[in-house]
Order: sequence, then structure tokens, then C-alpha cells
Amino acid sequence: MSEAVAETVASRFSELYGAEPDGVWAAPGRVNLIGEHTDYNDGFVMPFALPHTAVAAVSRREDGVLRLHSADVEGGVTELRLDDLAPESDKNWTAYPAGVVWALREAGHAVTGADIHLSSTVPSGAGLSSSAALEVVVALALNDLYALGLRGWQLARLCQRAENVYVGAPVGIMDQTASACCEQGHALFLDTRDLSQKQIPFDLAAEGMRLLVVDTQVKHSHSEGEYGKRRAGCEKGAALLGVNALRDIAYDDLDAALARLGDEEEVRHLVRHVVTEDERVERVVSLLESGDDTRSIGPILVEGHASLRDDFRISCPELDLVVDTALTSGALGARMTGGGFGGSAIVLAEETDVDAITKAITEAFAAAGFKTPRVFEAVPSAGARRVR
Ligand code: GLA
Repeated sequence: MSEAVAETVASRFSELYGAEPDGVWAAPGRVNLIGEHTDYNDGFVMPFALPHTAVAAVSRREDGVLRLHSADVEGGVTELRLDDLAPESDKNWTAYPAGVVWALREAGHAVTGADIHLSSTVPSGAGLSSSAALEVVVALALNDLYALGLRGWQLARLCQRAENVYVGAPVGIMDQTASACCEQGHALFLDTRDLSQKQIPFDLAAEGMRLLVVDTQVKHSHSEGEYGKRRAGCEKGAALLGVNALRDIAYDDLDAALARLGDEEEVRHLVRHVVTEDERVERVVSLLESGDDTRSIGPILVEGHASLRDDFRISCPELDLVVDTALTSGALGARMTGGGFGGSAIVLAEETDVDAITKAITEAFAAAGFKTPRVFEAVPSAGARRVR
């Protein structure tokens, strides 16, 4: 994110609200390398921040009013009274920033209002956490302006609460933590049970590789049922197995656990995905930490995709086509990323193969009659920060 962007967002704020903003903040979208649908099972994830960010120009107000405007949505300024903010009262984009203000006040923080202008380059509906970026940028701005002294992981928890309760989407904690806590040049190994974190250096370019994000342009929406059904199924599995969360089933005990689930066919598939996915995250982390050739994570990504497609059943023809085409055109690994049912896939490739793989995917989409996918390179970028 350049200084020029911060400047543009600040000057639009001035036009809208008639004064300079108190400051400008940025928070990134994320891509998840491995660890999918493990976060609401207290498991492991490994996202990194994208260069794409939500940027917010913000000023304090003392009169209990919240004014919101977005450069990305048609329409004027939305004005809300803080006392009127109520869970699930808003079905528009404004629910994300308003939800954060609601969650902060609910947690006892004396936020008395704000003027906010937002502008985001995180593709929305692409499984790249555009919502989390909006939430985190607002939370960080208010944390600074009201001197709340909250740490990144605490802001992430509040943002998750905003999304769960105010917006009404039962998401886990990965996206908000990634946006708040990621560091440039690193992937974030996060234990979602206690939010303990480890920054793992992840510099593919140094080893002659690239990570591509392929946005299938199939829009997903988490509040629409399927995500919640998977989550409920996992919780049922944990209850049947007598554990707090599926994280507590050790990989070595998986077969025994599956046997105990008897004729709960659907739950068995969900449990198998979550337990094997946690183990895949641990394998990727130890490979990256061992200093071995990073290419060796490729097959683990492919295993992860098969598990999401066959056990968790959240892939779609477009995502499968990206993965299959990438692999037959020489990719080292590929898998869907994010919540599923559309959105994006990632492709790990030799730098020298990137053009051929991109071309093959684009042609395969055209041949299948799918929308043209958007392909870009993802470099691990900075987490949320003040930019002006
Ligand atoms: C969405 C949710 C996350 C996580 C992923 C799947 O991105 O917001 O909490 O559950 O799906 O890994």
C-alpha cells in the first residue's frame, strides 16, 4: 500500500466530512497456505497477509454518532447512533464496521463515535478475507484513537465477535488474526485454541518459486448455511467423541475415533478432514522449519485439497479445475483456500512455469464455459498498521 493511496483516502475523507481525518490505517486480506476449517475446531492454521488492503481514514467523535462511507459501494454517508446498534439489524456492508464499534462498546470500551471512510483492494467474495480486513482496520483505528491499548489478537477476538454476533456469520478466528498479526515475509502459524503464534519465514522467490492465487470469480457467502452446517457437524463430532473440540483427537487415534462414530457417516467425514488437516499443518510447519526444500510442501497442499473436496465437500467444479489443471501443467502443489464453495485456489509453482500454468488455467476455464479467473502472485505482506 503506497503513501499515495493513504493520501487519496484522506482527501476523500476531507471532502465527505469537511475536515482532515485524525489518521489513516490499513489492514490486509489473507490467503491461507494450509489449515482449512480447523479454526473453529481449536486447531492449527497457517495464513499469510496479502498486499491487498482495506484502508480507513478515521476521526473521533464525541456525540454518540457513527458515520460510514465506502469508496467501493454506491451510495452516500450512512449515519448511525451508537445506542441503536443491535445484532443482525443490518444486512449491508456497514454491518462490518458498525459491528466492530458495537463489539468494542459491548466489551466496555468507551468509544463515543467516529467518522469513517473506507476503501479496499481486497477482492470481495473471493475467499481472501475482505470482511476481516474491513473489521480489523476499523478496530485498529479505534484502538489507536481511543488509546485502548489492545493487542492484535485481542482486536481479532473483538472482530470475530462482531462478525459472529452482529453480522451473524459463524466464522472462526483465522482471518481476523491473520489481518491483525501477520508480518511481511512470513506465514503465521497460529494455534487457534490459545492464539499462540509463530512467524515462519516464507520467501518463495528466494528459492525460485511463486505462489499464485486464482480467484475463480465464483462468489461465496458464509452466512448462507453451508459453512454453518459444517461447523455444527464438527461440533456434533466433538460431542459424540467426548472432547471439547476436534483438535483434541490425536492423529494417531483417528481410526479409533472414526470407528466409534459408527453410522454417523457425515460426521465421520468431517472429523477425518479436521484431524488430518491439523496434522498437515504440523507437517508443513516442520518442513519449513527444517530448512529443507520448500517444494516438499507441494504434495501436502494437494492432500489438503482432496480432503476438502471429498471429506469436507466444500469444493466446486471451478476450484477443482484450477487444482487439476495446475497439477497437470507442472505445478508443485495446489488447493482451494478459504471457506470454500467458490472463492480462490492457491498454486505453488516454479517461477519458470508460472506463465504456462496461468495460460493453461485460463484456457481450461474458457473451454469449460466458466468466467475468466483472476490470477495474481501472492507475496507475504504486512499485517494491520497505521499509515498516516
Ligand atoms: C472462512 C472463515 C475462517 C475459516 C475459513 C476456513 O475464511 O472466516 O474462520 O473457518 O473460512 O478455513
